[in-house]
Amino acid sequence: MKNNLFDVYPLFEIEPVKGKGCHVYDKNGQKYLDLYGGHAVISVGHSHPYYVEKISHQLQQLGFYSNSVQNSLQVELAEKLVELSGCTDYQLFLCNSGAEANENALKLASFTTGKTKVISFKKGFHGRTSAAVNVTDIDKIKAPINKTFEAEIHEWNNFNTVKASLEKGDVCAVIIEGIQGIGGIHVPNRAFLQAVAQLCQTHEAILILDEVQSGYARRGHFFGYQFTDIQPDIISMAKGMGNGFPIGGILIHPKHKAKYGILGSTFGGNHLACAAGIAVLDIIKNENLLEHATELGEYFMNELGAIPQVKEVRGRGLMIGIDMGKSIKALRSKLLYEDHIFTGSSSDPNTIRMLPPLNVTKQEIDYFLDKFKAAILDF
Ligand SMILES: Cc1ncc(COP(=O)(O)O)c(C=O)c1O
Repeated sequence: MKNNLFDVYPLFEIEPVKGKGCHVYDKNGQKYLDLYGGHAVISVGHSHPYYVEKISHQLQQLGFYSNSVQNSLQVELAEKLVELSGCTDYQLFLCNSGAEANENALKLASFTTGKTKVISFKKGFHGRTSAAVNVTDIDKIKAPINKTFEAEIHEWNNFNTVKASLEKGDVCAVIIEGIQGIGGIHVPNRAFLQAVAQLCQTHEAILILDEVQSGYARRGHFFGYQFTDIQPDIISMAKGMGNGFPIGGILIHPKHKAKYGILGSTFGGNHLACAAGIAVLDIIKNENLLEHATELGEYFMNELGAIPQVKEVRGRGLMIGIDMGKSIKALRSKLLYEDHIFTGSSSDPNTIRMLPPLNVTKQEIDYFLDKFKAAILDF
């Protein structure tokens, strides 16, 4: 179909027009099981009634006013977020997307240290804007204008090279995903993450945990890194934070002090976005979704691990990579067009990404497992 859109996305031949829980429906009424949540965004399910009610109510009151006035919704969101995540005394800055969250995190790190060199990791993804894309390990999405500071990309799980670089004393920040998402679901090992945190402290570099994909109760803890006891300087988040409403943010360690004007945004923390963010946190708390994601994630990973054609299952909680050892392209097409199940790809051509809404049921997982086993009979 010819249209006036700038054509940057390869599209599936499907148009969802309605969603409920873990399902979406296309314009012909066909139902799809959504085990990908529109790129890890749908955290509490499509059109959750409490979420719909909260945003609708807020829209009837006030949709937007700028960041030059009091906004108690922002205060409520911050309070609920630090309580549920256990990041006591961290301070919240609100923006609109994952890239913008990382952009602000990197900017704050540079303000704090006065330095510009950043360490990131192979297969990492941090967004498509200026500084965030420069520390992303995908060369083809960087324009010359993005390459304005030194970005060193290191081996995953190898702290020796990170140590050698930090010892030079010119590193502003280390940015790392809580679990690598787009890279194909890779969990950092505990000793590595702890050593990196320690090295950052010793060499006065800012540790940024990019939890844009792995955060928000997806992996059994609120944030991915919380299987360790490290305390990052900055935690970036977006995706699941608004269940589809554009909102992002960074949590900043209490040792960093705010100054007027260093960060800002017109739309960040607007009334509707806060209503969406508060609704998501209320639902996660009231429906015990942290525990649910832990239990179901474990069940899902165990079941997948018992399937002979599966080479490796990676991840934690409801952030799961199924490595099939060979291309998954045809398999994902079959699951989508014949079995009507959305799954995700990654930059690893052999790995399927599973990022279902956090309130996915055991029945829905079992339904997928049946279809998946049938689809890979002759894989
Ligand atoms: C780990 C990570 N960081 C940052 C981003 C960028 O987020 P956004 O697309 O909201 O800018 C993504 C998006 O996929 C991501 O997975």
